[in-house]
Amino acid sequence: MAGSTLPDYSPSAPAGYESPAADRVMESAEQFITLFHEENDLGSPEHRIRQVRREIEFSGSYWHTPAELSFGARVAWRNNSRCIGRLYWHSLRVRDRREVSTAADVVTEAVAHLRSATNGGRIRPQITVFAPDAPDRPGPRIISSQLIRYAGYELVGGGVVGDPSNVDLTRLARELGWPGGQPPGRFDILPLLVQEAGAPVTLHEIPSDAILEVGLEHPDYRWFANLGLRWYAVPVISDMYLDVGGVRYPAAPFNGWYMGTEIGSRDFGDAGRYDELREIASRMGLSTATDRNLWKDKALTELNLAVLHSFDGAGVAITDHHTESVRFLQHIQREERHGRACPVDWSWIVPPAASSATPVFHRTYTDFDQTPNFYRHPAPGTSALTPAALAQTSLAQTSVAPAEPSLRELPQPANELAAVCPHQAGEHVPHLRMIEEQGGVERQLSQLES
Ligand code: ARG
Repeated sequence: MAGSTLPDYSPSAPAGYESPAADRVMESAEQFITLFHEENDLGSPEHRIRQVRREIEFSGSYWHTPAELSFGARVAWRNNSRCIGRLYWHSLRVRDRREVSTAADVVTEAVAHLRSATNGGRIRPQITVFAPDAPDRPGPRIISSQLIRYAGYELVGGGVVGDPSNVDLTRLARELGWPGGQPPGRFDILPLLVQEAGAPVTLHEIPSDAILEVGLEHPDYRWFANLGLRWYAVPVISDMYLDVGGVRYPAAPFNGWYMGTEIGSRDFGDAGRYDELREIASRMGLSTATDRNLWKDKALTELNLAVLHSFDGAGVAITDHHTESVRFLQHIQREERHGRACPVDWSWIVPPAASSATPVFHRTYTDFDQTPNFYRHPAPGTSALTPAALAQTSLAQTSVAPAEPSLRELPQPANELAAVCPHQAGEHVPHLRMIEEQGGVERQLSQLES
């Protein structure tokens, strides 16, 4: 399905499109190429830097080699201070699709990404990199915040059916002609919203056989399944751009697998999301008349348990916050052994359940911004996604941000995502059980070291 009511506001390079100044590109490029050579024992970077300089002087930008691109994407993950799952940053699969820039091809490749990342439940951390912003023309953008999102329909008298965090996206989809679920359901998959350079946003239905979902049940409470809760297997973040050595890739969807609390505590537990705690507590026979009996805490724990239990039962990779906290401290140690400081944002790393029972809680960290990295495009809820705003604001203005943006500066609900990274592990190390089958975390680590 492709259709739109938005004006075609720019023929090729949208008005106001400005690429970063060549000297800034050169500076970042030199830094990145040097890092690439250093970390990969490639000897002097001088020859490659001269090549890149000529390319930038001639065209205003440069083209990464496939090896540079893979390294850049992996280091972007490693540098992302909000991600607890960075231990396996090196195993990220990188799909180089830089030749792809039309909306139709972006969608085809995004669906292919979903299938290979899902891998029947043995989830593979993966990124697909589409065309970069070029000096005369921006690359494509995926407007949806993740490839898979559940619609959130606003009710006339207030309230939302579905996921409240996707209300803006849902409104935009409907304005562009999406009929919505008939009747609207709590878990209707939204079409993918994509914008190619100089063109209006278009809608694209994702084939249902590319989407794996897990119905939630509880190991002890038979009634839990009757709540009708479900969640998708693979979170593919699609509203962040990848910044590598002065080159910006505005569409670079990436995924890891879930940590249970992202779904249990946040997606279902948050009052501003599915808000399931009261219902669960009541079914557990707890009074919800006072907070004092800790009904919320008890409901949260059982909800988190149901998520882990259900994903395990369905053979879909998922990690838990205790395991991941221990691994994260191992990651910091490994980084230190390699002489690298690891940037950490405490408020994002500490899990939203049993916080003080995890070791990551009990220490301080330093946080700083360094590229390569992932940065969020203007988020839904900042009005950047209303058709009016999209019609007025050129793609360029939304996809080319001011100098050195940092995640913290960009407008977005602080806790919208519990982690922004392709979570952790590699194609061969899906989740704890599979890791144990292969000889445990320590062996994985020594393989990574070599
Ligand atoms: N917290 C987000 C969600 O609940 C997903 C963010 C990415 N998570 C990940 N494990 N890579 O959908």
